[in-house]
Amino acid sequence: MSRLLHIIASPREEESRTLQVSEVFLKSFLEKHPNWTVDSLNLMKEEIPDLSMKRVDGKYVLIEGKDLFGDLKESWEDILAQINRFLSADLILISTPMWNFHIPYMLKHYIDVIVQPKYLFQYTETGVEGLAKGKKMVVITSRGGQYVSKEELSFDFQEPYLRTIFGFVGIKDITFIKAEPMDMGIDVQKQKLQEAKTLAMQIAGQM
Ligand SMILES: Cc1cc2nc3c(=O)[nH]c(=O)nc-3n(C[C@H](O)[C@H](O)[C@H](O)COP(=O)(O)O)c2cc1C
Repeated sequence: MSRLLHIIASPREEESRTLQVSEVFLKSFLEKHPNWTVDSLNLMKEEIPDLSMKRVDGKYVLIEGKDLFGDLKESWEDILAQINRFLSADLILISTPMWNFHIPYMLKHYIDVIVQPKYLFQYTETGVEGLAKGKKMVVITSRGGQYVSKEELSFDFQEPYLRTIFGFVGIKDITFIKAEPMDMGIDVQKQKLQEAKTLAMQIAGQM
């Protein structure tokens, strides 16, 4: 059975503009793919493991090409559970607002936890190989401002970062759906939110 992992990085629940767009996407996607299962990972509600000194030590053990052992292995159980959850998804939907021109800290924390050698990437003689190849990703985002002109785009560290980090682990098929600007007047907000919902419905219907 195919799986969609929905990673939620807005704390605003039903107030969230991002999640309003995601809801339309998911409804349309599931109408077309009723047999898919959806696994929701709300980063504000679920505990993502801290990267303590011991857990970070594990990363260096893996970088050296060795296996985790003893209590190091034990300390990695929660990390491996998150990695397995990520890797078992065929499609990953990320719902994230822009915060300070980037992603919210809980999404960065999650990325720091799951992007690990041996599991999401490995070094080969020819360079880095991503191990999450073949997965599709959709990123639904909303922003208070607008990032369209060359100058505005120079402030957008969110889309380039997400394309870079997930490209690094092998995910190249990434579609962005953006609702913007959300905080520059109610009329434009309503219009742009509706446009993003329509686009989300179209994209979900084509998947
Ligand atoms: C902590 C924080 C930082 C923000 N930083 C930015 C920013 O750098 N650029 C921007 O355009 N909007 C910024 N915003 C506005 C949000 O991106 C915007 O309101 C978005 O629609 C919120 O999404 P949500 O309703 O899904 O939570 C920020 C909002 C918060 C709460």
